[in-house]
Amino acid sequence: MSPRFLLSIVAVVVIAGLAGFGFYAYRPSLPVVTVVEPSSFSPDMVEKGRILAAAGYCATCHTAAGGQSYAGNYPVETGFGTIYASNITPDPVTGIGGWSPAAFRRAMHDGVRRDGAHLLPAFPFDHFTKMTDEDVDAIYAYLMARVAPVAEKTRDNTLPFPLNQRILQAGWKLLFVDFGRYRPDPGKSAQWNRGAYLVEGVTHCGACHTPRNLLGAEKTGEAYAGAPIDKWIAPALTAANPSVVPWSAADFTRYLATGSGVYHGIAAGPMGPVVHAGLRELPRSDIEAIGAYLGAAIGAPDTNPADNPVVMASLKAGRLDPAYRRDLGERLYATACAACHYNASTVVEGRPELAINSSARLAEPTNLIHVILDGVDAKNGTGGIVMPAFRHALSDAQIAAVAAYLRETRAKLAPWPELAAQVARIRAEGAGH
Ligand code: HEC
Ligand code: HEC
Ligand code: HEC
Repeated sequence: MSPRFLLSIVAVVVIAGLAGFGFYAYRPSLPVVTVVEPSSFSPDMVEKGRILAAAGYCATCHTAAGGQSYAGNYPVETGFGTIYASNITPDPVTGIGGWSPAAFRRAMHDGVRRDGAHLLPAFPFDHFTKMTDEDVDAIYAYLMARVAPVAEKTRDNTLPFPLNQRILQAGWKLLFVDFGRYRPDPGKSAQWNRGAYLVEGVTHCGACHTPRNLLGAEKTGEAYAGAPIDKWIAPALTAANPSVVPWSAADFTRYLATGSGVYHGIAAGPMGPVVHAGLRELPRSDIEAIGAYLGAAIGAPDTNPADNPVVMASLKAGRLDPAYRRDLGERLYATACAACHYNASTVVEGRPELAINSSARLAEPTNLIHVILDGVDAKNGTGGIVMPAFRHALSDAQIAAVAAYLRETRAKLAPWPELAAQVARIRAEGAGH
């Protein structure tokens, strides 16, 4: 074969490939409709949509700090640049007032904008694709009927070329997204399937708890293995969770319903709004279904702390030890922390036992440092219970000393490296959510 002939074959293959990709990537613009009359939706549907919108944290991402609800421009920081969440109020020009239910469904299920442009995965459509048409329509009804229209233009994202070319997003979808509604597993109970539907779909737990590959897609085969998110660490929700006591279905349910897991930790940082602005709207039976789904994967029985020798041994080990060398870490712990975290040898709701708290046991000190620096406000953690912030009271070296002390005497795990430098970095980043 002549090189020329070979070249023309390559050219034909490349052109056919591009044409095929173009055909795959092309999505038509859907017609603009007049804003739907709010009274055309049934109150039941609007109420269902309100609950689902809460459980999908739509407002958390679609409201900028100090901005109007759902008017967008909340910055989602990615490793590649900042993506601004869109205005999804019913404003016909800058929001989604001109979108039909079909256009809204296509955005939620396929990640495509009304005008046919591909949406970026900072919007978790890779999870929302699992939701039923009925549930997506209910969210549409809620947004149209209850959310005030706000005229506010969404800022352009700051992704560099070629990542800002939305057409390329079609390739990412082809490689990484398993599109389609949730398919119930007939071998499992109705409760398990309900939990799986909620976790995989609207509540998109994996968006934070599953590690991502270099192109920002959740790694298949490593679901819920734990991942860095918004400058915090979302711990593993599998048997790889660092807790002394494996999470049972009842533990998950308790934590997700109250923000406090007596054996493990509290919902601070980015997990705060998940519990207190999101899941709290769901009926108790849905929280139990989520607990059952996650608990089944670990398979640990539900136990009472007082009957659990592992917990009791950890608590005893966590008391101040008179023989301990009384270095800076212990002195600071005794004076700054022990007045509240005083190791009563019994597990107390809303005041985590640091001997069994996940933040002292994770491979990274990030969450522990955040909590010491910025405390826990009344909105987060166990609702209505606060821990003071030590940002202005303790230096980087002092926070490092307390963290190292807890790591050594409570978690009894290998020391974290270069702690003072990590405290300095996390302090400079701010509260991080
Ligand atoms: C983790 C943050 C996050 C969450 C949670 C989230 N969104 Fe978004 N959403 C975004 C971002 C960022 C964009 C813009 C993506 C882009 O520019 O490609 C977006 C875009 C959209 C769009 C496309 C609108 C347009 O004109 O670009 C719709 C519709 C939408 N989101 C609806 C929702 C709904 C409904 C929920 C809750 C069920 C939700 N989103 C939850 C971040 C989020
Ligand atoms: C926006 C990101 C985000 C989302 C979404 C999210 N989480 Fe979390 N989650 C976190 C972070 C960060 C922590 C650590 C909080 C802390 O240390 O106080 C956490 C902590 C937890 C813990 C406690 C783990 C431990 O060992 O202490 C559980 C359980 C949990 N999440 C379950 C869930 C479930 C179930 C969902 C979905 C319904 C979910 N999370 C959705 C970020 C998230
Ligand atoms: C005034 C009482 C008080 C003091 C002092 C205090 N804490 Fe706390 N701490 C709390 C309470 C209460 C919570 C639980 C907050 C909630 O559930 O909303 C908490 C939570 C925590 C958590 C759990 C974080 C998680 O995500 O699970 C850690 C770790 C922690 N404190 C460490 C410390 C350290 C270290 C010090 C000393 C530098 C300290 N605390 C000082 C009251 C206190």
